[in-house]
Amino acid sequence: MWKLQENILELKDREHLAEFIRSTERFTQFEKVKEFERAWSVWQNTSYSTFVNSGSSADLVMLDAVKEFYKIDDGAEVLVPVVTWTTNITSVIQTKMSPVFVDINLDDLSFDYEKLERAITSKTRIILVTHLIGIPANIERLSAISEKYNLILLEDCCESHGATYRTEKVGNFGIASTFSFYWGHHITTVEGGMICTKNEELNDLFVLKRSHGLARELSPSKHQYYRDKYPEIDFNFLFLTHGYNFRNTELHAVIGIEQIKHLDRYIKIRNENHREYLKIISKITDKVFLVDNNGISSFCLPFIFKSTSDKNKLRKAFHDAEIEIRPIISGNLLNQPCFAKFGNANDFKNAQIVHENGFYIGNNQFVNDERLEFLNSVITKVF
Ligand SMILES: Cc1ncc(COP(=O)(O)O)c(C=O)c1O
Repeated sequence: MWKLQENILELKDREHLAEFIRSTERFTQFEKVKEFERAWSVWQNTSYSTFVNSGSSADLVMLDAVKEFYKIDDGAEVLVPVVTWTTNITSVIQTKMSPVFVDINLDDLSFDYEKLERAITSKTRIILVTHLIGIPANIERLSAISEKYNLILLEDCCESHGATYRTEKVGNFGIASTFSFYWGHHITTVEGGMICTKNEELNDLFVLKRSHGLARELSPSKHQYYRDKYPEIDFNFLFLTHGYNFRNTELHAVIGIEQIKHLDRYIKIRNENHREYLKIISKITDKVFLVDNNGISSFCLPFIFKSTSDKNKLRKAFHDAEIEIRPIISGNLLNQPCFAKFGNANDFKNAQIVHENGFYIGNNQFVNDERLEFLNSVITKVF
């Protein structure tokens, strides 16, 4: 059985967790969270990282804080791709802004950049790009568009840890970026997410919003300023902004500290597998769309067919061979009941191709030569 994902917690990771549980008196967010955030900032080559309880929470906090920081009005438009994860869009709605869906391109699976530019109106303030399934979006085009129209670029890297655009890791090009450590991703903290930025004041808002808006969450060097500013309020219960409770725990941070040590190795294995998969599908290039793999940090092994009948043939063969498949993220989101009012799915042609003719199978450190040979034999038999 080739599953979409398997347990990637190594025995040593579990032993570290068990040892931590035996020895600590503190389980809620504390020093281990800080240690993981520092390690992540070093790995990601960013200045500030804020650990939260999921990638979805990371997206919501990022949008809420960016809206507050840049004084963006309710109803402002946020350009989003129509193929991404749902909570990325619901974060826009929950922060009282309007998602404007844009079709994707079939090269890097990010925005159709011409349509993106055409979708800009006087109300547009943010471009929220998703680097989908480990493929870096075209940063040059996105930066040019955001500079030309004075828009804020935010990056959802929840599926693209370590993907690079011209040698720089994605997540370092926009004002802020998010990552997910859910267990199907490049590394896991079981549940977890990270928000990154190089802007200290914006990061302060991330930190506040993660934890109720409480002033005491800021770094100690900033406490006296607020004590003096609000002397009549107990500093420990001083709320500077509207917040959530999206904190993560010391336990999840301990897992993250161990997992990050494996991350480069995991990415290397994923990308080696991906190169073999490219060789395999090179035999059916007349049948599939081939995406641009420059700078990839492979999340999965995708198949986007030109015809639905070919897709169905391979889907059946994979089913018989016990190779688990799933839609490419969730297909064209406008087919989902919760987003239907935002547009007609059929007007988004490339997303609809991905929706109707696409699926992916898992890629991770458990995919080896034997499995790839098996994949080759299944595909060769079908076509
Ligand atoms: C592109 C993207 N954004 C956000 C998320 C949300 O992450 P989480 O599952 O950790 O909430 C996901 C989840 O897989 C995702 O794929």
